[in-house]
Amino acid sequence: MKFLDLQGNKFPALGFGTWQLEGDTCLGAVQKAIDIGYRHIDTAQIYGNETEVGSAIEKSGIARKELFVTTKLWTNNFEAGRVASSMEESLSKLRMDYVDLLLIHWPNPEVELSETLGAMAELVKKGKTKAIGVSNFPVSEMRKAVEECKANIACNQVEYHALLSQNAVLKYASDHNIIVTAYSPLARGKLVGHPVLTGIGAKYGKTAGQVALRWLIEQKDVAAIPKAASEKNARANFDIFDFELSKEDTAALNKLKGNMRVVNPSIAPEWDAA
Ligand SMILES: NC(=O)c1ccc[n+]([C@@H]2O[C@H](COP(=O)([O-])OP(=O)(O)OC[C@H]3O[C@@H](n4cnc5c(N)ncnc54)[C@H](OP(=O)(O)O)[C@@H]3O)[C@@H](O)[C@H]2O)c1
Repeated sequence: MKFLDLQGNKFPALGFGTWQLEGDTCLGAVQKAIDIGYRHIDTAQIYGNETEVGSAIEKSGIARKELFVTTKLWTNNFEAGRVASSMEESLSKLRMDYVDLLLIHWPNPEVELSETLGAMAELVKKGKTKAIGVSNFPVSEMRKAVEECKANIACNQVEYHALLSQNAVLKYASDHNIIVTAYSPLARGKLVGHPVLTGIGAKYGKTAGQVALRWLIEQKDVAAIPKAASEKNARANFDIFDFELSKEDTAALNKLKGNMRVVNPSIAPEWDAA
Protein backbone atom coordinates (compact mmCIF):
# COMPACT_ATOMS: atom_id res chain seq x y z
CA MET A 1 0.00 0.00 0.00
CA LYS A 2 1.08 3.53 -0.67
CA PHE A 3 0.25 6.06 2.06
CA LEU A 4 -0.26 9.80 1.66
CA ASP A 5 0.22 12.34 4.43
CA LEU A 6 -3.16 13.94 5.06
CA GLN A 7 -2.33 16.69 7.55
CA GLY A 8 -0.28 14.26 9.62
CA ASN A 9 -2.73 11.35 9.20
CA LYS A 10 -1.76 8.20 7.29
CA PHE A 11 -4.07 8.11 4.27
CA PRO A 12 -4.06 4.92 2.18
CA ALA A 13 -3.86 5.97 -1.47
CA LEU A 14 -6.28 3.20 -2.43
CA GLY A 15 -9.64 3.10 -0.67
CA PHE A 16 -12.91 1.22 -1.05
CA GLY A 17 -15.93 3.15 -2.39
CA THR A 18 -19.42 2.24 -1.17
CA TRP A 19 -21.88 4.31 -3.21
CA GLN A 20 -24.90 2.13 -4.13
CA LEU A 21 -23.84 -0.64 -1.78
CA GLU A 22 -26.72 -1.17 0.61
CA GLY A 23 -27.90 -3.56 3.30
CA ASP A 24 -26.32 -7.00 3.44
CA THR A 25 -24.58 -6.45 0.10
CA CYS A 26 -22.75 -3.49 1.63
CA LEU A 27 -22.00 -5.36 4.85
CA GLY A 28 -20.56 -8.32 2.93
CA ALA A 29 -18.62 -6.20 0.44
CA VAL A 30 -16.98 -4.04 3.12
CA GLN A 31 -16.14 -7.09 5.25
CA LYS A 32 -14.57 -8.72 2.21
CA ALA A 33 -12.70 -5.53 1.31
CA ILE A 34 -11.17 -5.35 4.80
CA ASP A 35 -10.23 -9.07 4.51
CA ILE A 36 -8.52 -8.32 1.20
CA GLY A 37 -6.49 -5.56 2.86
CA TYR A 38 -8.35 -2.29 2.21
CA ARG A 39 -7.91 0.04 5.19
CA HIS A 40 -9.61 3.12 3.76
CA ILE A 41 -13.39 3.11 3.42
CA ASP A 42 -15.42 5.86 1.78
CA THR A 43 -19.05 6.39 2.77
CA ALA A 44 -21.50 9.31 2.99
CA GLN A 45 -24.69 10.22 4.83
CA ILE A 46 -26.66 10.08 1.59
CA TYR A 47 -25.47 6.55 0.74
CA GLY A 48 -27.69 5.20 3.51
CA ASN A 49 -25.07 2.61 4.43
CA GLU A 50 -23.14 4.07 7.38
CA THR A 51 -24.74 1.46 9.64
CA GLU A 52 -23.53 -1.42 7.46
CA VAL A 53 -20.08 0.13 7.03
CA GLY A 54 -19.83 0.49 10.82
CA SER A 55 -21.00 -3.03 11.36
CA ALA A 56 -18.49 -4.46 8.86
CA ILE A 57 -15.69 -2.53 10.57
CA GLU A 58 -16.78 -3.76 13.98
CA LYS A 59 -16.96 -7.37 12.79
CA SER A 60 -13.53 -7.15 11.14
CA GLY A 61 -11.75 -6.98 14.49
CA ILE A 62 -9.22 -4.56 12.95
CA ALA A 63 -8.21 -1.82 15.40
CA ARG A 64 -10.00 1.44 14.67
CA LYS A 65 -6.70 3.32 14.34
CA GLU A 66 -5.64 1.00 11.51
CA LEU A 67 -8.57 2.15 9.39
CA PHE A 68 -9.22 5.43 7.61
CA VAL A 69 -12.93 6.25 7.39
CA THR A 70 -14.38 9.12 5.37
CA THR A 71 -17.97 10.28 5.50
CA LYS A 72 -19.69 13.24 3.87
CA LEU A 73 -22.29 15.73 5.04
CA TRP A 74 -25.34 15.79 2.82
CA THR A 75 -26.52 19.18 1.53
CA ASN A 76 -29.46 19.46 3.98
CA ASN A 77 -27.02 19.27 6.91
CA PHE A 78 -24.90 22.32 6.13
CA GLU A 79 -26.31 24.72 8.76
CA ALA A 80 -24.07 24.84 11.85
CA GLY A 81 -26.54 23.02 14.15
CA ARG A 82 -27.17 20.30 11.57
CA VAL A 83 -23.44 19.83 10.94
CA ALA A 84 -22.98 18.92 14.61
CA SER A 85 -26.16 16.87 15.07
CA SER A 86 -25.86 14.95 11.80
CA MET A 87 -22.24 14.15 12.65
CA GLU A 88 -23.48 12.58 15.90
CA GLU A 89 -25.99 10.54 13.87
CA SER A 90 -23.25 9.42 11.48
CA LEU A 91 -20.90 8.45 14.33
CA SER A 92 -23.67 6.55 16.05
CA LYS A 93 -24.48 4.63 12.84
CA LEU A 94 -20.79 4.01 12.18
CA ARG A 95 -20.34 2.96 15.82
CA MET A 96 -17.17 4.96 16.25
CA ASP A 97 -16.02 7.99 18.24
CA TYR A 98 -14.49 9.79 15.29
CA VAL A 99 -14.09 9.66 11.54
CA ASP A 100 -10.78 10.38 9.89
CA LEU A 101 -12.17 12.75 7.29
CA LEU A 102 -15.44 14.66 7.02
CA LEU A 103 -16.30 16.20 3.65
CA ILE A 104 -18.88 18.64 2.34
CA HIS A 105 -20.48 16.37 -0.28
CA TRP A 106 -21.43 19.04 -2.85
CA PRO A 107 -21.34 22.84 -2.83
CA ASN A 108 -24.69 24.29 -1.72
CA PRO A 109 -25.09 28.03 -2.44
CA GLU A 110 -28.09 28.19 -0.09
CA VAL A 111 -25.90 27.97 3.02
CA GLU A 112 -22.86 30.20 3.62
CA LEU A 113 -19.78 28.07 3.10
CA SER A 114 -18.10 29.77 6.08
CA GLU A 115 -20.92 28.59 8.37
CA THR A 116 -20.51 24.94 7.36
CA LEU A 117 -16.73 25.01 7.42
CA GLY A 118 -16.72 26.81 10.78
CA ALA A 119 -18.95 24.14 12.29
CA MET A 120 -16.78 21.40 10.78
CA ALA A 121 -13.67 23.01 12.30
CA GLU A 122 -15.39 22.78 15.69
CA LEU A 123 -15.81 19.04 15.13
CA VAL A 124 -12.05 18.74 14.61
CA LYS A 125 -11.48 20.56 17.93
CA LYS A 126 -13.92 18.18 19.64
CA GLY A 127 -12.15 15.13 18.18
CA LYS A 128 -15.17 14.02 16.12
CA THR A 129 -13.14 14.09 12.91
CA LYS A 130 -9.39 14.22 12.37
CA ALA A 131 -9.61 16.41 9.31
CA ILE A 132 -12.11 18.17 7.08
CA GLY A 133 -12.42 18.65 3.36
CA VAL A 134 -14.73 19.13 0.42
CA SER A 135 -16.04 17.18 -2.54
CA ASN A 136 -17.11 18.24 -6.01
CA PHE A 137 -15.48 21.65 -5.54
CA PRO A 138 -14.19 23.32 -8.70
CA VAL A 139 -11.31 25.78 -8.25
CA SER A 140 -13.61 28.77 -7.65
CA GLU A 141 -15.20 26.98 -4.66
CA MET A 142 -11.85 25.70 -3.38
CA ARG A 143 -10.57 29.26 -3.49
CA LYS A 144 -13.58 30.45 -1.49
CA ALA A 145 -12.97 27.77 1.15
CA VAL A 146 -9.24 28.35 1.45
CA GLU A 147 -8.83 32.08 0.81
CA GLU A 148 -12.14 33.62 2.00
CA CYS A 149 -13.13 31.17 4.73
CA LYS A 150 -9.51 30.39 5.72
CA ALA A 151 -10.54 26.77 6.21
CA ASN A 152 -7.92 24.10 6.75
CA ILE A 153 -9.00 21.85 3.87
CA ALA A 154 -7.17 18.50 3.69
CA CYS A 155 -8.85 17.00 0.63
CA ASN A 156 -11.08 17.61 -2.37
CA GLN A 157 -12.84 14.45 -3.56
CA VAL A 158 -13.73 14.80 -7.24
CA GLU A 159 -14.44 12.66 -10.26
CA TYR A 160 -11.07 11.90 -11.78
CA HIS A 161 -9.95 9.19 -14.16
CA ALA A 162 -8.00 8.69 -17.36
CA LEU A 163 -10.76 10.21 -19.53
CA LEU A 164 -11.36 13.34 -17.43
CA SER A 165 -8.81 16.09 -17.06
CA GLN A 166 -8.82 17.70 -13.65
CA ASN A 167 -5.75 19.84 -14.31
CA ALA A 168 -7.12 23.01 -12.72
CA VAL A 169 -8.23 21.27 -9.51
CA LEU A 170 -4.98 19.29 -9.31
CA LYS A 171 -2.88 22.44 -9.69
CA TYR A 172 -4.78 24.43 -7.06
CA ALA A 173 -4.78 21.44 -4.69
CA SER A 174 -1.07 20.86 -5.06
CA ASP A 175 -0.31 24.56 -4.49
CA HIS A 176 -2.32 24.47 -1.26
CA ASN A 177 -1.29 21.12 0.19
CA ILE A 178 -4.66 19.52 -0.53
CA ILE A 179 -4.98 15.86 -1.47
CA VAL A 180 -7.20 14.97 -4.43
CA THR A 181 -9.23 11.79 -4.01
CA ALA A 182 -10.35 10.40 -7.36
CA TYR A 183 -13.91 9.13 -7.25
CA SER A 184 -15.36 7.01 -10.05
CA PRO A 185 -11.71 6.14 -10.87
CA LEU A 186 -12.91 3.46 -13.31
CA ALA A 187 -15.36 5.92 -14.88
CA ARG A 188 -18.08 3.71 -13.37
CA GLY A 189 -16.81 0.72 -15.33
CA LYS A 190 -16.33 2.50 -18.66
CA LEU A 191 -12.54 2.19 -18.44
CA VAL A 192 -12.75 -1.56 -18.08
CA GLY A 193 -11.96 -2.89 -21.54
CA HIS A 194 -10.71 0.45 -22.89
CA PRO A 195 -8.38 -0.49 -25.79
CA VAL A 196 -5.46 1.82 -24.87
CA LEU A 197 -5.49 0.76 -21.22
CA THR A 198 -5.93 -2.89 -22.18
CA GLY A 199 -2.91 -2.65 -24.51
CA ILE A 200 -0.75 -1.05 -21.82
CA GLY A 201 -1.93 -3.56 -19.22
CA ALA A 202 -0.94 -6.50 -21.41
CA LYS A 203 2.72 -5.47 -21.02
CA TYR A 204 2.51 -5.88 -17.25
CA GLY A 205 0.06 -8.78 -17.05
CA LYS A 206 -2.59 -6.35 -15.75
CA THR A 207 -6.11 -5.40 -16.81
CA ALA A 208 -7.30 -2.02 -18.07
CA GLY A 209 -8.92 -1.36 -14.69
CA GLN A 210 -5.69 -2.04 -12.85
CA VAL A 211 -3.83 0.31 -15.19
CA ALA A 212 -6.46 3.01 -14.59
CA LEU A 213 -6.00 2.77 -10.82
CA ARG A 214 -2.23 2.48 -10.91
CA TRP A 215 -2.03 5.60 -13.12
CA LEU A 216 -3.98 7.54 -10.48
CA ILE A 217 -2.11 6.43 -7.39
CA GLU A 218 1.28 7.04 -9.03
CA GLN A 219 0.37 10.74 -9.13
CA LYS A 220 1.60 12.92 -6.26
CA ASP A 221 -1.01 13.41 -3.53
CA VAL A 222 -3.76 11.59 -5.45
CA ALA A 223 -5.83 8.77 -3.92
CA ALA A 224 -8.43 6.55 -5.64
CA ILE A 225 -11.53 4.89 -4.22
CA PRO A 226 -12.92 2.27 -6.65
CA LYS A 227 -16.16 0.54 -5.71
CA ALA A 228 -16.69 -3.14 -6.33
CA ALA A 229 -19.63 -5.22 -5.14
CA SER A 230 -17.98 -8.41 -6.28
CA GLU A 231 -15.04 -9.95 -4.46
CA LYS A 232 -13.31 -10.67 -7.77
CA ASN A 233 -13.31 -6.99 -8.75
CA ALA A 234 -12.38 -5.81 -5.25
CA ARG A 235 -9.37 -8.15 -5.29
CA ALA A 236 -8.31 -7.12 -8.79
CA ASN A 237 -8.48 -3.43 -7.82
CA PHE A 238 -6.26 -4.06 -4.80
CA ASP A 239 -3.68 -5.93 -6.86
CA ILE A 240 -1.88 -2.86 -8.21
CA PHE A 241 1.15 -2.55 -5.96
CA ASP A 242 3.50 -4.94 -7.77
CA PHE A 243 4.12 -2.98 -10.97
CA GLU A 244 5.06 0.51 -12.06
CA LEU A 245 4.02 2.25 -15.28
CA SER A 246 6.88 3.29 -17.56
CA LYS A 247 7.32 6.97 -18.43
CA GLU A 248 6.09 6.23 -21.98
CA ASP A 249 2.95 4.47 -20.77
CA THR A 250 2.20 7.26 -18.27
CA ALA A 251 2.60 9.79 -21.09
CA ALA A 252 0.25 7.79 -23.32
CA LEU A 253 -2.35 7.70 -20.53
CA ASN A 254 -1.94 11.43 -19.85
CA LYS A 255 -2.82 12.06 -23.49
CA LEU A 256 -6.23 10.40 -23.11
CA LYS A 257 -7.45 12.97 -20.59
CA GLY A 258 -10.58 14.63 -21.92
CA ASN A 259 -13.91 15.83 -20.66
CA MET A 260 -15.85 12.63 -20.03
CA ARG A 261 -17.86 13.07 -16.84
CA VAL A 262 -19.88 10.16 -15.54
CA VAL A 263 -21.30 11.96 -12.47
CA ASN A 264 -23.04 15.24 -13.24
CA PRO A 265 -26.30 15.67 -11.31
CA SER A 266 -28.49 18.78 -11.43
CA ILE A 267 -26.93 20.10 -8.18
CA ALA A 268 -23.45 20.12 -9.75
CA PRO A 269 -21.59 23.43 -9.78
CA GLU A 270 -20.07 24.94 -12.93
CA TRP A 271 -17.06 22.72 -13.55
CA ASP A 272 -13.61 23.89 -14.54
CA ALA A 273 -12.86 23.68 -18.26
CA ALA A 274 -11.02 20.52 -19.26
N1 LIG B 1 -18.13 12.51 -3.68
C1 LIG B 1 -18.99 12.15 -4.62
O1 LIG B 1 -19.90 12.91 -5.02
C2 LIG B 1 -18.89 10.78 -5.23
C3 LIG B 1 -19.52 10.51 -6.44
C4 LIG B 1 -19.36 9.24 -7.00
C5 LIG B 1 -18.59 8.29 -6.33
N2 LIG B 1 -18.02 8.57 -5.13
C6 LIG B 1 -17.23 7.56 -4.38
O2 LIG B 1 -16.33 6.93 -5.28
C7 LIG B 1 -16.59 5.53 -5.28
C8 LIG B 1 -16.25 4.91 -6.63
O3 LIG B 1 -16.96 5.51 -7.67
P1 LIG B 1 -18.15 4.79 -8.48
O4 LIG B 1 -18.76 3.77 -7.60
O5 LIG B 1 -18.98 5.87 -9.03
O6 LIG B 1 -17.43 4.13 -9.74
P2 LIG B 1 -16.12 3.26 -10.07
O7 LIG B 1 -15.41 2.83 -8.84
O8 LIG B 1 -15.38 4.02 -11.11
O9 LIG B 1 -16.78 2.01 -10.82
C9 LIG B 1 -17.59 1.09 -10.16
C10 LIG B 1 -18.14 0.12 -11.21
O10 LIG B 1 -17.06 -0.56 -11.84
C11 LIG B 1 -17.21 -1.97 -11.65
N3 LIG B 1 -15.88 -2.51 -11.35
C12 LIG B 1 -15.14 -2.26 -10.25
N4 LIG B 1 -13.97 -2.91 -10.34
C13 LIG B 1 -13.96 -3.59 -11.51
C14 LIG B 1 -13.03 -4.45 -12.13
N5 LIG B 1 -11.86 -4.71 -11.56
N6 LIG B 1 -13.38 -4.99 -13.34
C15 LIG B 1 -14.56 -4.72 -13.90
N7 LIG B 1 -15.50 -3.89 -13.36
C16 LIG B 1 -15.19 -3.34 -12.17
C17 LIG B 1 -18.12 -2.14 -10.46
O11 LIG B 1 -18.80 -3.38 -10.58
P3 LIG B 1 -19.28 -4.27 -9.32
O12 LIG B 1 -19.70 -3.31 -8.24
O13 LIG B 1 -20.38 -5.07 -9.86
O14 LIG B 1 -18.11 -5.11 -8.86
C18 LIG B 1 -19.04 -0.94 -10.63
O15 LIG B 1 -20.03 -1.20 -11.60
C19 LIG B 1 -18.07 5.45 -4.90
O16 LIG B 1 -18.46 4.15 -4.53
C20 LIG B 1 -18.12 6.47 -3.81
O17 LIG B 1 -17.57 5.95 -2.59
C21 LIG B 1 -18.15 9.82 -4.58
